[in-house]
Amino acid sequence: KSSSRKPPNPHHRYFFSCSPLLMCTFRNRRVPPDSCCCSDRALEQSGLGQLGVGLAQMLRKQYGTDNVILSDIKKPPPDVYKSGPFVYADVLDYKLLRELIVNNRITWLVHYSALLRPVGEANVALARKINITGLHNVLDLALENCLRLFVPSTIGAFGPSSPRDPAPDLCVQRPRTIYGVSKVHGELMGEYLHHKYGLDFRCLRYPGVISVNTTPGGGTTDYAVQIFHDALSTGHHECYLRPETRLPMMHISDCHRATVEFMQAPECQLTLRTYNIAAMSFTPEEVAQEIRKHLPHLKVTYNPDVVRQSIADSWPVRFDDSNARRDWGWTPAYGLEELVTDMLDSIQNKRTNQGLPVS
Ligand SMILES: NC(=O)c1ccc[n+]([C@@H]2O[C@H](COP(=O)([O-])OP(=O)(O)OC[C@H]3O[C@@H](n4cnc5c(N)ncnc54)[C@H](O)[C@@H]3O)[C@@H](O)[C@H]2O)c1
Ligand SMILES: *[C@@H]1O[C@H](CO)[C@@H](O)[C@H](O)[C@H]1NC(C)=O
Repeated sequence: KSSSRKPPNPHHRYFFSCSPLLMCTFRNRRVPPDSCCCSDRALEQSGLGQLGVGLAQMLRKQYGTDNVILSDIKKPPPDVYKSGPFVYADVLDYKLLRELIVNNRITWLVHYSALLRPVGEANVALARKINITGLHNVLDLALENCLRLFVPSTIGAFGPSSPRDPAPDLCVQRPRTIYGVSKVHGELMGEYLHHKYGLDFRCLRYPGVISVNTTPGGGTTDYAVQIFHDALSTGHHECYLRPETRLPMMHISDCHRATVEFMQAPECQLTLRTYNIAAMSFTPEEVAQEIRKHLPHLKVTYNPDVVRQSIADSWPVRFDDSNARRDWGWTPAYGLEELVTDMLDSIQNKRTNQGLPVS
């Protein structure tokens, strides 16, 4: 399919004028407007997942409600439906995506589609289709339409042979999970198309993302959400990782802000196309100790799960994000203390609103 489409001229992008929205000051130095397409409108694919809704909120505040279109294949909840444009789009439907991009004059694409973990494990063929064919569709469309494309990667893109403490942006990546393998594939495909055809591909490796609205689904970092819910309900958390397992984590609002700031960074400032971003690294024991400053009665028992423990043991302990800090000014706002305070407050409010007891 892709061979029949002519790749855009690699120099084409320099002929585009730029939207003033993308002008910015960087380290007190005025930088020229970005060289590629304008930020007229963004299409956020699979916006109804854990990360999509919050990112859309942040983008809409800055670019206007109607300039950010959310898409997914499931029905949006009423509050999301009312909050701005939403359309149905299956990431496997190339023509439909193209129609949406053309009709709405889309210039940025955020690709968040994924098959939910439990489903993905039960149906590997479908997961592969959505994760990999979906990505190829999006890459082709971005090239064809000169879109700025964001694709997320993860700590899972590293493996047992990668340096772990810290993991740099560039090093050996031999992950042993299908999740990791498909993420490395995405990083490499995007970078290849950038070098060969000038695609404005941008990728961040997210740490474990912590938010109130996460529905734990068997992921390796999910304990770090569940423990807050348990602390405020039963007061007891059974952890599937050993107490000293250290992993990179991030508050969801830092994750959204990193994504927006990275998308806004002028192309000339980027020395890489895939960056690590870090905020904090903690162990189950350390987060429990921090929670006990608020809820001294929290009890944690450990019952390590062989599969998830071995995955965690192959992932980075810390992320080296010095390139992101240097190139586009990344700094996290939340450390462990702020994260714990915010999570406990938010879950407590949520429980109170739902009429649930708070321990
Ligand atoms: N949440 C994290 O901690 C984390 C960490 C690192 C990387 N990531 C990455 O960020 C991205 C988004 O994560 P998330 O947690 O929001 O995922 P999610 O599983 O919550 O959401 C994925 C969305 O994709 C949609 N989808 C499924 N099949 C589709 C199809 N055929 N066409 C269109 N949409 C389809 C689902 O309806 C769902 O809303 C993923 O690529 C994930 O790998 C997430
Ligand atoms: C597809 O992505 C999901 C979530 O991002 C992941 O859990 C799953 O393992 C992936 N599967 C494949 C085959 O890539």
